[in-house]
Amino acid sequence: MDEQELRQLAAQLRQPSGQAGIQTGEWMNRGNVHINLETLKIVNAAANDTILEIGMGNGFFVKEILQKNESIQYTGVDFSDVMISEAQRINKEWIEKGQAKFILADVNALPFADNSFSKIFTINTIYFWDDPAAVLASVKRVLRPGGQFIITLRPKRQMQQYPFTRYGFTMYSKEAATLLLLQNGFSVLQAIENKEPDFELKGNMVAMEHLVMVAAKI
Ligand SMILES: C[S@@+](CC[C@H](N)C(=O)[O-])C[C@H]1O[C@@H](n2cnc3c(N)ncnc32)[C@H](O)[C@@H]1O
Repeated sequence: MDEQELRQLAAQLRQPSGQAGIQTGEWMNRGNVHINLETLKIVNAAANDTILEIGMGNGFFVKEILQKNESIQYTGVDFSDVMISEAQRINKEWIEKGQAKFILADVNALPFADNSFSKIFTINTIYFWDDPAAVLASVKRVLRPGGQFIITLRPKRQMQQYPFTRYGFTMYSKEAATLLLLQNGFSVLQAIENKEPDFELKGNMVAMEHLVMVAAKI
């Protein structure tokens, strides 16, 4: 890939747009099966949970949460209008049942009342937080006391192997992610490192792993 293509890929991963954004959403689902399903095991959705996902992309994995119990309420926010419309299309059945909604919003300004959610999670979005302290303050405000905030990411040692991460990605090691949470009013309950099967990325097989940070507000 030349520099312009790498910049375009990075921009689509940050904020999918247009027809290419729809394709990026589908491609992310293929590359992110394990990271999504492993995170959902840790989210462990249960009866009466009110769950917020930040940056759900096209919401392909939302069904895995909602089919567990009909009392679970899921809200997805994303600042990409094409990801919102795709998520609404893919999850039409759950929206009609009243269990899911998708809202166009920026993580820095979550449009919810204080203490709205029992669990909040986000996968592969931390790289794009321009002001992490503002994001964490926003999350903390809408998370109930005793609630959990789960951040899943690909750690820096993996991300820095991808040439597109030169364009607008902030990368975190386990230690840096831990420090960020501790400095912004969260305690870290667990930092789980998982290996995944290799994935083909533009003709090359790459080793995949992810890190799940489980935090609680202090
Ligand atoms: C790389 S994709 C990850 C999608 C999905 N979570 C996954 O792991 O397969 C990042 C998603 O986060 C969204 N996003 C990035 N920054 C955001 C922000 N500041 N506010 C809301 N959504 C954001 C993007 O629009 C995109 O849908």
